[in-house]
Formats: sequence, structure tokens, C-alpha cells
Amino acid sequence: MISDAPDERLRDQIRRAAAVFEDRTGRRPDGVWAAPGRVNLVGEHTDYNDGFVLPFAIDRHAVVAIGLARDRRLRLWSAQEETTVDVAAEDVRPGMPGGWGAYPAGVFWALARAGIEVPGFDLVVDGSVPIGSGVSSSAALECAVGLGLAELAGSAPDRVELALVAQRAEVEAVGMPCGVMDQMASMLCRAGHGLFLDARDLSFEHIPLEAPGLSMLVVDTRVARRLTDGRYAERRAECESAAEILRVPALRDASAADVDGAREALGPIRYRRARHVVSENARVLAVVDAARAGRWDEIGPVLSASHASLRDDFEVSSPELDAVVDAAQAAGALGARMTGAGFGGSALVLARASTVEDVVREIETGFGRRGFERPTTAEVRPVDGARRVR
Ligand code: GLA
Repeated sequence: MISDAPDERLRDQIRRAAAVFEDRTGRRPDGVWAAPGRVNLVGEHTDYNDGFVLPFAIDRHAVVAIGLARDRRLRLWSAQEETTVDVAAEDVRPGMPGGWGAYPAGVFWALARAGIEVPGFDLVVDGSVPIGSGVSSSAALECAVGLGLAELAGSAPDRVELALVAQRAEVEAVGMPCGVMDQMASMLCRAGHGLFLDARDLSFEHIPLEAPGLSMLVVDTRVARRLTDGRYAERRAECESAAEILRVPALRDASAADVDGAREALGPIRYRRARHVVSENARVLAVVDAARAGRWDEIGPVLSASHASLRDDFEVSSPELDAVVDAAQAAGALGARMTGAGFGGSALVLARASTVEDVVREIETGFGRRGFERPTTAEVRPVDGARRVR
């Protein structure tokens, strides 16, 4: 188990980002901002179908120290890597720069398109959100940069607008056609709560998620996935094509009966994709109802049903993710599911606190038996969204 000392970890990151900034630039940053990664409790591959999601922010952050640069350049450093990205502000566009610099530069570019402009900036990022693990390291970085630059531009855009700017950076500058969940979660989440979001009109409600005696574990299979490899985009296209055949604006508007009635017209793949989205939206509503009423025992089986649907109908799970879920269930967890886009990454396990050790042991034994690399496990709790920290 990774020992959990959230406040200390964040404090260290803030200190490190500011110190590296001073070292690289010879001046103090104008400010330091932090934005969290997220875990999605339920509602997977529903956001780009105009549906419902219920993510919460976790205590892993992207921390950025920023200072405005009058020479109209972007100089970007990472506290974890040696590389420097140095590019003229006027040269920034989708595809330029590439690599991790595309995230902060893409936000700068998308902010300018929203009328929020800074001349240029120096930035140091210190990240504790694992990359490629399905817990949104990219949204965390985009949101920290977006909030920081907007504040330094003297603008006070609302957080929904900033989340849309961050999403635009990811879609257009990075080239990952994501939905809006991750950026909304990083910007808007609240400690102790999940963000029940309607991805169609972006209305949201904070739902209390802390249940006494229960633990939420994130198990990172350490099978990193790349979402720009086309499989995520392929799922999106299959859903859009299913909605067209069903003659609805988005799969959010279809019922289970509609999907069943059009089984032949949809063909087997689109049928399964649509069945997942429609059933997953219903699961979000069921979990929200149960959480509001504190009926946590009811939530576990819904999470496990979500996993089965992602595995069998949406086909975005992996053998390692399935192994986590199977082992967690065998060890008596209340429920478990892959979280995030899938194709690798992490699973979420909901378990009674008293059974956590058994659950972790069972997962690790199962991985050993199957010759998988040992996963890492961390207990998580819902924390606040993006904010200025210095
Ligand atoms: C990624 C995307 C989100 C969402 C999830 C799947 O995290 O960034 O918008 O589509 O996958 O639920």
C-alpha cells in the first residue's frame, strides 16, 4: 500500500515547484496553482453521449508555478524531467509544441481563443497524478494551468468555462477527442463529495460520498494506455453512429427498449455499445439515489454491473482490470470496476474498511498467479478541485 499523507505530499509539491521555478528563472513565481486528478465512481463513456457521470477528485495533484513573461515566449519545465520546452507564443498551435508541453501550451492557445490572453509565461509543473493510469493526469495539468493563467490575466471566468477551455486544449491541441468529465471534475469537485454532472447541459450537483466504515481503493494495473491511439475515438464514432440509426440526438436520448427494438438495424457492435451507454446512465442515477439516501450496500453491485458492461458490451477492459475486479469480489468487496477510459489503467474497489487488507492481498496474489506485474494500490477520498495554493 502507498502510505497516504495527502497534505504533506501537496505541501512538498508546492515547495518543489516554487523552488525549481526560482532555480530556472532566477525570480519568484507570480503564483502557484494545484488541480487534482479524478476517479470516476460510475458513468463511464457516457459523457460524450450527453449522459451522466459521477466522478470525484483525488489527492493527487498537478502543481504549477507560473510567472508571466513579457518577451512573449513560453518556457516550460517539469520538476520530474530534465527537458525544457521553449517556444514563441505566436508559434503555439495544435501540434506545436508536441510532448507534454502540448498541455500547458494548448491551454494558453485555447484561453486566447476564449478572449483570455497573457503575453507569455514561464512554468514549472510538479505532478503526483500517475500518468497513463486512468486518473486524469492530463486534465489536472490543464486545469491548474488554465486557472493560473486566467487569474494572471486578471480575468475571472467561471469554472465551467475554464473546464471547457481545458477540454478544448485536450481535444484540439493534444488530439484526444475526450468528453468533458475530467476537466469538470478537476475544476469543480468538492471535498467529501462526488460531482453528479449532466454532460448535456453541464448542470451539476455535489453528492456526499463519504460513508463511515467504507474505503475506496484505486488499484493501478500499471498497464499504461494511450488514448490517442484511436480506440477511444473509435468507441465515440460507434456511439454516434448508433444514435443516428436510432434517430436520436445522442445515446442519452435512447431507452433500453429503443435499443432492443433496433437490434437488427444496429448490428451486433453498435447494439452492444448502445446497450452499455443506456444502462450506464441508469446506473449513475441509481448510485446517486442510493448515495443521497446513504444506502451504500446498494452501490457495490451497481459498480460491479458497470464493470461487466464495460467489459462485455463496451469492450474497453483488460485482463488485468478484470483480474482486479474478480479478486476484489472474491475477497468480499462491496463492488469494483475499471475507472476512466479503460484499455488498461486503474480499477476502483469499494470495500468495508475492515476487509481492505484481505482485498489487497487477494488482488496481489491473483496478479502473481497470472504473471502480471504487481499493481499499486492507494486508498482515496474525495478532495477539492483546482485552486490557488500560493
Ligand atoms: C476519458 C475521457 C472522459 C471520459 C472517460 C470515459 O477519461 O477524458 O471524457 O469519456 O474517458 O468515461
